[in-house]
Amino acid sequence: MHIAMVSAECAPIAKAGGLGDVIQGLSHELLDRGETVEILLPYYDILKQSFIGGLTEAEAPLSVPFYDRRLECHLLHAELNGVRCVFFDPRGEHGYFRRGQIYGEADDAERFAFFSSAVLEFVLRSERRPDILHCHDWQTGLVPVLLLERYRALGLDGIRTCYTLHNVGYQGRVDVSILRQVGLDPVSLMIPDRLQDPGDARVANLMKGGIVAADFVNTVSPRYAWEIQNTDQGMGLQSVFQAHRHKFGGILNGIDASVWSPETDDAIPVQFGPASLPLKAVNRRELRSRMGLAETEKPIFAVVSRLDRQKGVALIQHGIRYALAEGCQLVLLGSSLDPEISAQFEALKAELDPSPDCQLELTYDEGLAHLIYAGADMILIPSLYEPCGLTQLIAMKYATVPIVRRVGGLADTVFDAHYSDKSFDVRNGYVFDDPTEAGLESAMSRAIALWRRFPGYFRQLRVNGMRGNYSWRQPAERYLEVYRHLCKG
Ligand code: ADP
Ligand code: GLC
Repeated sequence: MHIAMVSAECAPIAKAGGLGDVIQGLSHELLDRGETVEILLPYYDILKQSFIGGLTEAEAPLSVPFYDRRLECHLLHAELNGVRCVFFDPRGEHGYFRRGQIYGEADDAERFAFFSSAVLEFVLRSERRPDILHCHDWQTGLVPVLLLERYRALGLDGIRTCYTLHNVGYQGRVDVSILRQVGLDPVSLMIPDRLQDPGDARVANLMKGGIVAADFVNTVSPRYAWEIQNTDQGMGLQSVFQAHRHKFGGILNGIDASVWSPETDDAIPVQFGPASLPLKAVNRRELRSRMGLAETEKPIFAVVSRLDRQKGVALIQHGIRYALAEGCQLVLLGSSLDPEISAQFEALKAELDPSPDCQLELTYDEGLAHLIYAGADMILIPSLYEPCGLTQLIAMKYATVPIVRRVGGLADTVFDAHYSDKSFDVRNGYVFDDPTEAGLESAMSRAIALWRRFPGYFRQLRVNGMRGNYSWRQPAERYLEVYRHLCKG
């Protein structure tokens, strides 16, 4: 089967968060199973070129519809760890992907609408057409819409679409002019059953458009799939998910063992596994030294996160203070696109600096993230909502015990040390319900007490986490079942 992944991100070359990891991990797993996989990505100026091999430019550029004219888009072909990639490079006046960042531009809607439209032009002109266009998040929501509205009739009638929602908090609520930009008719599409936003009839909702038009829709954990249909986590789209539940599901993410495995990770000082757990102490020492923390007997709490409202920023701040008050150490690695949230963390850093027990790194640093997972004892993830979450899975692989709120994929993957219906050999962390300071403290205090008083059971939690199966094998099998089912229909 030939699967084309259409995404705004792909690790390690263009990653802002977990979406990048998912495209990388799922694509590799599908390739290992003998499927033909191609990743379609914007050619950002910030692409990490050193990971890309054999970059060549196609002779003829694409001509992409743009209002009542067309824009040129150059195509580049390359390979990323064996997976074929096609990059879309519009060099014209807009410089859509030459902005020094993936997201956060005033014209993001226009940039990704252009990308979606270019993808269909590319597929239309290709000699080897994919069986499946697998689209991800609001940025590619127009792909299933364009296929249904225009490109099926132009000969792409054999292609099926799978649309994966990684975050319903970002729906691509845009001006209707975006529909005109890609040559769609706003009059027929701005209706309740199609792209019209449920909260504002004048706004076009690209994610909703994708949900309605795609052949299959899923989110990245079963629990989040339930939450967005049945609670306000659906962020206004609950009834849309319910109306389309016949083609909707939840498939839990995996993590890529070639990137996230303490036994083979060359970004950490010393590799270790369940049988050589004491070696984690060497990484802990290195983490303290790199972060300027005192070498003590205190446990180290970690936070590795986009600092977005979704992640429970007020609870993260409270967790930092609570950890320090309880005689622990804490390291945070986080970055934010939101100036207000950035300012809050800058102020907290200024207040706490310098400290032998605390270091806040307000930046994005892939290498440091590996060291933190390897060196910390516990990781805090007090999210208000979490479609899947990868940081708890990565942390568990590195014997760092997660403390999480019971939402979305966190609830599906972390099982409380004391209060769980799971057997003791799979309990792997701490879980709390209320998104309040008291809720967070209840879980943190239990974890600290166990670390201090029952180190044997704490060690067992670490080993249970390390032994968990978070590989892409099972999720890839589920996606393949979906693809095969769609191709039969
Ligand atoms: P989300 O996609 O919502 O940000 P996930 O838990 O799914 O959350 O994935 C986050 C990914 O981004 C993980 O690979 C994590 O290690 C990485 N990450 C998050 N913040 C940073 C940061 N400041 N520096 C380096 N890596 C980060
Ligand atoms: C999103 C979600 C996160 C998920 C990731 C990958 O960014 O916030 O929960 O793990 O996508 O699917």
